[in-house]
Amino acid sequence: MAKPKSSWVCTECGHKQSMQAGFCPSCRKYNTLVEEVEALPTFRRGPKAASGGAQSRRLSDISIQDATRITTGISEFDRVLGGGVVPGSLVLVGGDPGIGKSTLLLQMCGRIEKQASVLYITGEESASQVALRAERLGGQAAHVWMLAETRIEAILAELARLDPKIVVVDSIQTVYRDDLESAPGTVSQLRESAAALLTWAKSSGGSVFLVGHVTKDGQLAGPRVLEHMVDTVLYFEGDRHHMYRLLRATKNRYGATGEVGVFEMRSSGLEGVQNPSSLFMGNLGSRPGVCIAATLEGSRPILVEVQALAGATHFSMPQRVATGFDARRMTILLALLERHGGMHLGGYDVFLSVAGGLKLDDPGGELAAALAVASSLRDTALAQGTIALGELGLGGEIRPPAQLEARLKEARQMGFKRALVGRTPKPVKVEGLEVVVCEDLGVALERGLG
Ligand code: TYD
Ligand code: MG
Repeated sequence: MAKPKSSWVCTECGHKQSMQAGFCPSCRKYNTLVEEVEALPTFRRGPKAASGGAQSRRLSDISIQDATRITTGISEFDRVLGGGVVPGSLVLVGGDPGIGKSTLLLQMCGRIEKQASVLYITGEESASQVALRAERLGGQAAHVWMLAETRIEAILAELARLDPKIVVVDSIQTVYRDDLESAPGTVSQLRESAAALLTWAKSSGGSVFLVGHVTKDGQLAGPRVLEHMVDTVLYFEGDRHHMYRLLRATKNRYGATGEVGVFEMRSSGLEGVQNPSSLFMGNLGSRPGVCIAATLEGSRPILVEVQALAGATHFSMPQRVATGFDARRMTILLALLERHGGMHLGGYDVFLSVAGGLKLDDPGGELAAALAVASSLRDTALAQGTIALGELGLGGEIRPPAQLEARLKEARQMGFKRALVGRTPKPVKVEGLEVVVCEDLGVALERGLG
């Protein structure tokens, strides 16, 4: 077959030329030219549309296939997917190297193989390495089909032959199209390979899981393009030095975004965590410098322990170090403590950290962070079983976080007896929990630390 002609197209201005170049002669931007190739017959998208093959139908006549979701057998995974794998969907799983993407997907294959045929395509590891991991996972996935291949043409041929229901491509960065000049992992290779797999998924009804690498700053390597093409984007995150892992849906055409699954990495693979609060919380918070907050991860409240240490500084500029907490927000909290708590922090180093390596992005954790710092500074512990919830405004006012009641219920379930919160439009009541309403930070400090 004749080699299809390549052209180079500028992603900024659309300029097209036959040669590769470092910058676009039209708009003069650098590194914007990407390779494009005339579509192969197997790659041609929507040929029927042009010949009038598809006809429009009324929305009400279209049957809903939601009932046919395939459950992965891993409840935390199902939760993030929105209740199982939707046939014909394309799911991108991103995450740092070594976080457990391959492990999770292989475990899923092992659980699903009894219901549907599964093909695991490995481009990163050899088939025997994957077999070794499967053995480590307790001999799961014995009937999964394995393919060590990275050429998309060969992959498509195998897909046509085997007609699997679930396909894992580990990773999409290793897959390439033979007739493209650019190296595997570049934007044009990723786009073409993913497009081919997308076409296969939509026409065959099989579901494809793509493993994607992330760069240092946490973006999926190269391709925002991929995020647009796929139905669901899942990020696997967590600290490699800690055992827990969070699987988060940042895009989901078939379920809620922001939904989170919590896993623990064991020696025999990943295990779903039913009660994540127990993971991030040491005790009921009765040491100086400790305050418990309830953050919301997806639809699920999780209790986290915020720890602070304030000590006299030996530097001319006091140290401000935040781990798992935004450093700038910490500075604002310190300013609020000076203004509304009458504290003088200029002579103190302040360290703030969230236990378990979790990131506390939720503004509802601000009151707890401020109380933790104040508690360390005064060397006074909050009363045993106290939780603090609220976002701090610059005027020192405390705003209630989203879904306050759900968070309070979780706290009650975990044995907390008292909650410091801001004023809410309607009074919130949770059986067995004393809800202490504080007008502002000054009042919260008084009620919390006496
Ligand atoms: P892996 O799934 O290979 O990560 P990724 O595909 O995201 O790069 O996970 C590898 C890490 O997980 C590795 O450091 C070893 C560890 N691990 C366990 O702790 N227990 C296990 O059962 C397995 C299979 C891996
Ligand atoms: Mg891997």
